[in-house]
Amino acid sequence: MNLETKVIHGGQRPESSTGAVMPPVSFSSTYVQESPGVHKGFEYSRSHNPTRYALERCVASLEGGQVAGDATGGGFAFASGLASMATCLELIDSGEHVIAMDDLYGGSYRLMTRVRERSQGLKVSYVDMTDPKRIEAAITDRTKLIWVETPTNPTLKLVDLAAVAAIGRRHNLITVCDNTFASPILQRPLELGFDIAMHSATKYLGGHSDAVGGILVTNRPDLAERLRFMQNAIGSILGPMDSYLVLRGIKTLAIRMERHCRNAAEIATRLEAHPRVERIVYPGLESHPQHALAQKQMRLGGEPAGGGMITIWLKGGLNDSRRFLQRVHLFSLAESLGGVESLIEHPAIMTHASVPPDKRKALGIDDNLCRLSVGIENVEDLWRDLESALR
Ligand SMILES: Cc1ncc(COP(=O)(O)O)c(C=O)c1O
Repeated sequence: MNLETKVIHGGQRPESSTGAVMPPVSFSSTYVQESPGVHKGFEYSRSHNPTRYALERCVASLEGGQVAGDATGGGFAFASGLASMATCLELIDSGEHVIAMDDLYGGSYRLMTRVRERSQGLKVSYVDMTDPKRIEAAITDRTKLIWVETPTNPTLKLVDLAAVAAIGRRHNLITVCDNTFASPILQRPLELGFDIAMHSATKYLGGHSDAVGGILVTNRPDLAERLRFMQNAIGSILGPMDSYLVLRGIKTLAIRMERHCRNAAEIATRLEAHPRVERIVYPGLESHPQHALAQKQMRLGGEPAGGGMITIWLKGGLNDSRRFLQRVHLFSLAESLGGVESLIEHPAIMTHASVPPDKRKALGIDDNLCRLSVGIENVEDLWRDLESALR
């Protein structure tokens, strides 16, 4: 099946007892057994839940998981993106070493540095992976995992996934890609040799800003077995209602991504020419430092696609940015991204406040940086909103 079909049918079949086309939201926390240990494959809802399974199978199919013999083909859903990351980090032992992209979502950075460095004795090296050679230079005899985000949040740097996967294989390291910004419609890390794809399902997968969730997908049977054990042992699973909402959202993922990309490309072109914009990064613009990689790695229906996220540096300082952010109306000033509605935010004060100021400065997360999540509204309405706020 092609992706546009998989979003609707991937891992799905009509419910066997009634023929319901959408899986019922299965709230039962436990399942009856005929005699001790004899049941229909469902014992207790933390371990197995039919609604969650339906979502997990669907995302596994989109990302190319398909682990034979695994109940959900290698897909695992969690209570949030960070819960999925936290469970994934349990794949490695205390004192081991992780190499992570230097420009990570602030919450991912916080989890590694302020929680796992303390509680797990994790050692993390933050590396600018725009040149993958720097990864090899950071490998030690305790390195076990490479954590990549591409495009990154918020400076939209890209990482060459095939090159990083090859390094991971050469050194026997687990490679994980946070694929939240691209979604499986634009980019599928497992096809490029990664071991695990991760998502904040809160974003493009759900797509309607009405559910928080996280996903891991692997195509390695050994990792699927360990993740299944840990999902149950740690227990930060996605509940049935949220599983249903994300699954329903995914039905329109392909068509939404088309519109997100089209709108964002148009808005990015206009912003680039606007006199109040000092600098812009958007993977679909030729001015993006890694435009060639974007064209190769992020594709929609065989054509290059830049995604729905744009980052701009406005002329002036914090007060000018603040005024601009107060004056937009259609773009809601809010954290998060990837919903049908356009959002705008100020990472230094909002999503990335947990990144220390000196590190923010080094990454270019300045006081005049604003991040736009371009929704699927009419593009002229969106432009009028930005244009009048800029004026
Ligand atoms: C790239 C990325 N990864 C992970 C997360 C964390 O996801 P959640 O908020 O669902 O825990 C976010 C949230 O903004 C994100 O943008």
